[in-house]
Amino acid sequence: MHLLHTPDDFIAYRKSLSGTIGLVPTMGALHAGHLSLVNHARADNQHVITTIFVNPAQFGQGEDFTAYPRTLDADLQKLAHAGVDAVFLPTPDNMYPRGYQTYITVEDITRGLEGAMRPTHFRGVTTVVAKLFNLAQPTTAYFGQKDAQQVCVIRRMVRDLHMPLSIAVIPTSRESDGLAMSSRNVYLSDEQRTGAVCLSRGILRASSLYDAGERNPSALLNAVADEIQKESQASADYIALNVARTLAPIAVIPSADWGMGDMPHTDEPLLLSLTVRFGKTRLLDNALLPHHLNTRDGLTAVLGAG
Ligand code: PAF
Repeated sequence: MHLLHTPDDFIAYRKSLSGTIGLVPTMGALHAGHLSLVNHARADNQHVITTIFVNPAQFGQGEDFTAYPRTLDADLQKLAHAGVDAVFLPTPDNMYPRGYQTYITVEDITRGLEGAMRPTHFRGVTTVVAKLFNLAQPTTAYFGQKDAQQVCVIRRMVRDLHMPLSIAVIPTSRESDGLAMSSRNVYLSDEQRTGAVCLSRGILRASSLYDAGERNPSALLNAVADEIQKESQASADYIALNVARTLAPIAVIPSADWGMGDMPHTDEPLLLSLTVRFGKTRLLDNALLPHHLNTRDGLTAVLGAG
């Protein structure tokens, strides 16, 4: 497995390759969810490149950039075992050298949901991802469903800037009790970890209601809210229903100034998403409604396709 430390290393390595390239951008602290992205990339492509970079530009002031888990040796072992061909491991100075001043901003769809909570986050994500796309020139880049808005924003950027690559969206990997895998789950105390299953429970309840014909946004959101309220340490930042292709808002708890809209008249797929705090740790989860769309094909066809 090649270790590429600088953008120049990456450019030289990329020039040596021909054939299809799968790119899996990560911030490290790899878990089974990341390895699922790698496995999809491995199955689809002649070459697989992973990047590990805790990107300072996507963390706001007071967020967990310094505390973010860094487990490089274990990550490299997992990637070698998964058959990755090369790993790009830049430093912040490599990526944002003195004098750096170019950023990419995607507009409307970054304003709600995570964008409302973390106003500079997506600008950092799109900037670093565009840089990684330029370096890797991948055939397909692989992203996880768990960061659904990130997928929509990246797809918008890819279309708007005519970037010649495909995006594959891979279903969220879950622990045996349903908790969505996340590098940040290590921050949870034992008690919080037990309670954190309320996110996936809430989603399951709302999905079942939707699949049984419930179309009242409040009924769907309240089903999730009920599960969150059962956990004394859990506090929801938002529980939201959006049109999955465009992220057009339908309803959110608590009501927020990033907008409320109408339930579509057709059975247009919806994105149900939520962020819940356990102490300082924010956990995200989401699902497409109807439930059967939460597969690679369903997610890739729908999320951010508007
Ligand atoms: O999803 C992540 O881990 C990050 O946002 C990404 C896409 C690697 C960009 O830093």
